[in-house]
Amino acid sequence: MKISASFLSCRKIEKAIEKLSLTDVDYIHVDFVDNTFCQGKKIPMRKLKKIYRYTAKRLDVHLMVKKPKKYIKQFVKLNTEMITFPIEIEKDIEKNLNLIKKYGLKCGLSINPDTNLHLLEKWLDKIDMILIMGVNPGYGGQEFIPEVKNRVEIVRKMITEHQAKTLLSIDGGIDQEIAKEVTPFVDIIVSGSYITNSDDYQLTIDRLRGKIGPEKEADTPNI
Ligand code: DX5
Ligand code: ZN
Repeated sequence: MKISASFLSCRKIEKAIEKLSLTDVDYIHVDFVDNTFCQGKKIPMRKLKKIYRYTAKRLDVHLMVKKPKKYIKQFVKLNTEMITFPIEIEKDIEKNLNLIKKYGLKCGLSINPDTNLHLLEKWLDKIDMILIMGVNPGYGGQEFIPEVKNRVEIVRKMITEHQAKTLLSIDGGIDQEIAKEVTPFVDIIVSGSYITNSDDYQLTIDRLRGKIGPEKEADTPNI
């Protein structure tokens, strides 16, 4: 299981990215909102373009926009491994997936908590990744919607039944407890504020990986 770290809820994004770079996190998750698909926190493209100054890690780009085509090229120029956009845009999904693939990157579709999962079936063979949203898109630091746990299991089953190679990722509201519950079903966990609000990023990432127990236990001295 891989961890992708989001910095959306941070005020000083450069500092946060630098700190994440010092950990063994697998990807930097770049959330991009332009307020066409959802309202949310906007990080200007001029800032994101300079991300290479702060990290050499591969980027996992999450576009929360209605027209991905407008932005794909700019992210291709960065150290991007995959680009994901929302299945809910409906229009030009195939064209956008093909554009991402043309640049040699992995492509993914995200799916909001209220969207029918059956919409995914038709795309399973055409995408590298499904990003299941644990919250409604737009902001970091939201609480995980508990019903999504069930959705993760359903999508895992769908992938297995179709014998597809699609990776499964979950994004939004993930802390150690939720990570533990979804780990058997997902390939990638995206986590933001749980990591960036902590004092020790690496320790928190270890917790997400299940390498160490919950905070209270770990902090209890041995008597
Ligand atoms: C939500 C974003 C998420 C979010 C993750 O719109 O797509 O990537 O920033 O951050 P946390 O873990 O704080 O929910
Ligand atoms: Zn995201």
